[in-house]
Amino acid sequence: MSGIQGKRDLFSSKFGIIAAAAGSAVGLGNIWKFPYIAGVYGGAAFLFVYLGFIIVVGMPVMLSELIIGRKSKRNAFGAFKVLAPGTPWKYIGILSVAAAFLILSFYGVVAGWGIEYVFISLKNGFSGNSPEEIAAFFTAFNHDPIKPIVYQLVFMLLTAAIVIVGVKKGIEKYTKILMPLLVIILLILCARSVTLDGAKAGLTFLFNPDFSKLTGDGILSALGHAFFTLSLGMGTLITYGSYIDKNNNLANTVLSVTLADTLIAIFAGIAIFPAVFAFGIEPSEGPGLIFVTLPNVFSQMPGGFIFSVLFFILLTVAALTSAISILEVVVAYFKEEFKMSRKTSTIVATILISILGMLCSLSLGDLSSVHIFGLNIFDAIDWVSANVFLPVGGLFIVLFIGWVFGKKKVKAELSDGSKIPDIFLNVFIFLVKLVAPLLIAIVLLNKVGLLNF
Ligand code: TRP
Repeated sequence: MSGIQGKRDLFSSKFGIIAAAAGSAVGLGNIWKFPYIAGVYGGAAFLFVYLGFIIVVGMPVMLSELIIGRKSKRNAFGAFKVLAPGTPWKYIGILSVAAAFLILSFYGVVAGWGIEYVFISLKNGFSGNSPEEIAAFFTAFNHDPIKPIVYQLVFMLLTAAIVIVGVKKGIEKYTKILMPLLVIILLILCARSVTLDGAKAGLTFLFNPDFSKLTGDGILSALGHAFFTLSLGMGTLITYGSYIDKNNNLANTVLSVTLADTLIAIFAGIAIFPAVFAFGIEPSEGPGLIFVTLPNVFSQMPGGFIFSVLFFILLTVAALTSAISILEVVVAYFKEEFKMSRKTSTIVATILISILGMLCSLSLGDLSSVHIFGLNIFDAIDWVSANVFLPVGGLFIVLFIGWVFGKKKVKAELSDGSKIPDIFLNVFIFLVKLVAPLLIAIVLLNKVGLLNF
């Protein structure tokens, strides 16, 4: 991730590339958001549609972003100016910046909850509490006008400090150790969760699809989440792609990152849903789902204290490695378009995003009566960024690769690092030219009511 520091030096190793991209992809999206929206949209049917979108839309978009970045060696905005000079394509960059801005505002709030839960775990604050008490605690905490904002600001400061000071020495070094640790804890949690009394209902909910429960909104959210969880649709991976050297096999990188990200989301689902049913929690609980479910699991396992401390620390770290990749999109834009220094642009971006984040946080308590499209500020920003901005960004990215950049250049770009079988190339071009754009367009048009299925 050294390239983030201004001069465009490249990632040092293949593992470094995967760690950086996976560090961006694996975050709150996998552990917090996936279980909560899967719960809202009915479980297994949502899971399968989401997996379908990961394969036919997500992976092609990811490869497209990496190609755009590596070829242009620029940030999300500049990339299109280099590859398609004098055309309106560069406005995709503006859309990306807006998306990054919105996403980080609520992302910081949820990461802040994670920090608060580290402290509560340290005080052993959950043990001996009933599921009702744990749920009541979360609601009270959320409605507090001060505390969650303090934690949100702490998280935003950490994110900003890393983006200013340097990613290589801090984050890159630690994520290589911390990410595998997160997976181990998640697996231990899965084991505890599936052996709880009444766990089976949770596994059925997660893996046994009832497609009749699927709504248009559920399908749109599955698409939006495929983008969100893989960090797609707003130029994060264009930026990272620009730090990847010519010899890297981009297709393999896409496969590794996608597999890691998807498996972690599924593990999170296995850790959560059996416990949700065992403790009589509503799967459609919403954004608080993991915060009201997991403390119950911890209080029911030997060594629960230490596991809960570790878990919430790792959750915060996973959020941090994602948040820096979101902030970087905004910072790079301010820096290049307004000729600010890296430090100034980071400070300005962080302050503006934090202010919007405070509104998100307050919208769960004091500002809960303010509604946008029938949702509170937090839910509205979460919904519109993932379900509109990212898919629209992704739509233009695949259209660009399929119709403007074209097969010949894709072939040249991909075969730099490896031999690309024709069949792979043809399938990829078919996906980015037709399948992915059509699917995204159909899902979006269905939502705005212009098309009904
Ligand atoms: N993918 C991250 C997560 O799952 C969040 C994230 C980081 C992101 N960079 C992004 C989402 C770019 C959309 C676009 O938590």
